[in-house]
Amino acid sequence: MKTIIQNISSRRASETIQMKQSVTEAISRKLGSEDFTFLSGHTLYTLLLDEATDLHEAWARFKDSWSRLKRDTFMADGGRYRLRRHAIYRMTTHDGVILPIAYRPHYQSLDHNGLNGGVARYFSPIESATCSNQVLNKILTLCGDVFCNLAPGCDWHIEVHQFRIVTCGAAASPTPEGVHRDGVDFVFMMMIDRQQINGGATFLYDQSGAMLHQHTLMDAMESAFINDQSIFHGVSPIIPASPDSYGYRDMLVITFRKA
Ligand SMILES: [Fe+2]
Repeated sequence: MKTIIQNISSRRASETIQMKQSVTEAISRKLGSEDFTFLSGHTLYTLLLDEATDLHEAWARFKDSWSRLKRDTFMADGGRYRLRRHAIYRMTTHDGVILPIAYRPHYQSLDHNGLNGGVARYFSPIESATCSNQVLNKILTLCGDVFCNLAPGCDWHIEVHQFRIVTCGAAASPTPEGVHRDGVDFVFMMMIDRQQINGGATFLYDQSGAMLHQHTLMDAMESAFINDQSIFHGVSPIIPASPDSYGYRDMLVITFRKA
């Protein structure tokens, strides 16, 4: 009897691995053919599940870390509405391992960020407990699998950003630089939470400026994979749900640049 149960359980584990591989390949194909793809929160949650991880508990801790972000002091518009943390990783193709590297500032050229680019920006580092959270590590692995399918043999410079945009009585822009590219190869963005707000729609454009897609990320873990070499993106302002309410939009953004 024990052998039968072991066989059933190993067959189920193997079917789960195959299912995850086929979903990951489908994401890669869609991203490769259309330069962007969106994923429901439920699908992403399913991809991250495994028997060894209490994903529900890890997600609760991951989400709670957004309550400890620090104010972005490099806002050229003088805004105080953006909180964030930042970490840098490197992925080497020969072993596929993704590891954090020593902190260095975030830098974008003025071409890619006309508002805040052109200077090295030092943000508070992502907390060590968040860096070791299984949700983040599994998402980094998923991104690595998807992007390596499209650009095999590359090493990657990876930047992880936690963002909170707050609004109280007035609109606040998640992308104050306007429609832009991040200046990398691929971007992953994921909804963590949104409370007491309206707006915050994601718009995607091709290189001629034609709008390709509009979608508002609403649910936890709802995500987008974007080819940053081909697609420009921007997010509409968030607006308080009621005139006096305090609202916020929490996002995880991960960029992959060929190293
Ligand atoms: Fe961006």
